[in-house]
Amino acid sequence: MITLKDFVREEKFFVIAHRGDSGSAPENTLAAINLAIASGVKMIEIDVQLTSDKQLVVFHDSVLGRTSNGHGFVKNFTLEQLLKLDAGSWFNSSFAGEKIPMLLDVLNAARGRVYLNIEIKPAANDPSSYESIEMLIKAIEDFGMAAFVVFASFDHAVLKHIKEIKRYLHTCALNVPGDSRLPSEIVNACGADAYGCSVQELTEKRAENIRRHRIPWGVYTVNTNEDLAITLKYGVQAAVTNFPSAVMKEYSRREK
Ligand code: G3P
Ligand code: CA
Repeated sequence: MITLKDFVREEKFFVIAHRGDSGSAPENTLAAINLAIASGVKMIEIDVQLTSDKQLVVFHDSVLGRTSNGHGFVKNFTLEQLLKLDAGSWFNSSFAGEKIPMLLDVLNAARGRVYLNIEIKPAANDPSSYESIEMLIKAIEDFGMAAFVVFASFDHAVLKHIKEIKRYLHTCALNVPGDSRLPSEIVNACGADAYGCSVQELTEKRAENIRRHRIPWGVYTVNTNEDLAITLKYGVQAAVTNFPSAVMKEYSRREK
């Protein structure tokens, strides 16, 4: 695998599987990660959180109820307690018993196969967030994956912090809804390497600024052919989607 930097430089357009292939399997589980890899997608987006006993797990919501049979805040449970939960049945009974994965399981599945886009939720006033960022960076480096991962966040102070610790790590600033600054102003303010926004936030003004400053960028969440049409109209380089196979197929059809 070439480094993420070279990949982004070379690739005209690529698809990012949002929380794995979350249209076909329960989000952020190994089932979704493995299906995304099998689909041939080049990058997978995941969300990472810290357990009460300081272990990194892959899970989106701060609370367990929507995507597992647990209840309460993820951060209040130990890894052992979380591993006993069913994170698959809510999606479909055929995924009953699917576990909340540890970050290390996902790194194992991804290494040498796909690039990872790791979203870090806003740190707000939670001091453990910065602790989890440092643990996250250590895990990525220990796995030899630093050149294959991008850290994305709506919290630009977090991205600035990452660059202060390790300047060579890749970061992506997600547009905070309502922020009227141009992409170049946003990435320059926090030293990010890339910019992300929602499909709804795509405008010619943003696209023109991105082109002029040659900023790598992606949009979320591109789940329909209409979303893809808008994404391509503005010349966006990466599309985050719950349906990676369908979006890659539609992209190939349009390119013929
Ligand atoms: O890629 C950005 C996107 O993942 C942010 O939204 O809610 O899916 O984490 P969310
Ligand atoms: Ca996310």
